[in-house]
Amino acid sequence: MTVKVLDVKDLSGGYGDISVVRDISLSVGKGEVMCLAGRNGVGKTTLMKLLSGALPLTKGQIALNGADISTFNAFERQQKRISHGLQEQSVFGGLTVRDNLSLTGKLGDNALTHLLIETFPIIKKRYDVQAGKLSGGERKLVSFCRAISEDGLITLLDEPTEGVQPENIERMGNVILEQAQRGRSFIVAEQNLTLIEQIADTCGVMDHGALVSLYQASSSLRESVLQELLL
Ligand SMILES: Nc1ncnc2c1ncn2[C@@H]1O[C@H](COP(=O)(O)OP(=O)(O)OP(=O)(O)O)[C@@H](O)[C@H]1O
Ligand SMILES: [Mg+2]
Repeated sequence: MTVKVLDVKDLSGGYGDISVVRDISLSVGKGEVMCLAGRNGVGKTTLMKLLSGALPLTKGQIALNGADISTFNAFERQQKRISHGLQEQSVFGGLTVRDNLSLTGKLGDNALTHLLIETFPIIKKRYDVQAGKLSGGERKLVSFCRAISEDGLITLLDEPTEGVQPENIERMGNVILEQAQRGRSFIVAEQNLTLIEQIADTCGVMDHGALVSLYQASSSLRESVLQELLL
């Protein structure tokens, strides 16, 4: 059996005594894109934080390429190339776009940088502007580019398209697919069903802190997820 890039078993956790995520098991293979859908407050962000180490687990195991990383902190997981694009406060307002994008040390004169700058001309236009002066949608784009530029084995993107205009959402989807073809894996918490349809190999639906369904990509994916969200 092929070892999965990320293998999660019975994961639970939350905020201090408040338990949010309950007994989640999932796995993501090399080059796979898993989307996570679910209504507001069901625990998508909390799950992402448990995976990146921003929150401690209360139960369960996380394995990266077969090695147990459950006890690793956020820094150690980042060193193992788990990248996390946060839903909120995802850029440093006092720094320029250029400096925000250079924080990982990975954004230089390389193919990935050129891909991102060519894909999103607005990023280049705003290169020397303080990120705090950008619009919400522009900030999300900077955050997305930073997470992509980290070149993670697995990249967690938490609602990357919030406030982003449709043509750039489609471009984000193209970047994710292009990077996945190169063998990178993604978990994307997302409300935008068009993006889910564009990028998902699988789509999990969360409710009350649990993963309640898992759909494979198909022509009926959008309909199935939508039905479930309306329940
Ligand atoms: N810092 C916190 N302390 C205590 N409870 C929290 C905290 N952050 C979130 N929660 C609670 O955890 C639950 C899940 O929140 P979470 O942000 O993970 O949901 P979500 O699915 O990402 O929602 P959204 O779609 O709005 O982003 C909610 O009930 C929320 O109130
Ligand atoms: Mg969230």
